[in-house]
Amino acid sequence: MSEPNRNPDSYYERHIFFCLNQRDNGQDCCAAHGAQQAFDHCKARVKELGLAGPGKVRVNKAGCLDRCAGGPIAVVYPEAVWYSFFDQADIDEIVESHLRDGQVVERLLTPPTVGR
Ligand code: FES
Repeated sequence: MSEPNRNPDSYYERHIFFCLNQRDNGQDCCAAHGAQQAFDHCKARVKELGLAGPGKVRVNKAGCLDRCAGGPIAVVYPEAVWYSFFDQADIDEIVESHLRDGQVVERLLTPPTVGR
């Protein structure tokens, strides 16, 4: 899992944050589009593949990331790559391609101008 540009001081190699924001005021939110299920699936897959832990990958919950119009949203650091996903197959691809192999999944990128 070591890569030439890896920061040796970084506790995790990669972090993925899922917006799990739930709005009860009738406005749209990632929670209304399967964000929790996607988060749970991602966490399980990362663990199954042996990617979880120090020096590897951490899957974290987040509140609103302010890019709701592209939701459901997840962002991967340190690359700061934003994803808009739809189903478990998309999550599998993000896990295997980006989190494990370091290859960005171009087809799931959130368009750069998408905001709230
Ligand atoms: S509700 Fe998910 S980015 Fe705002």
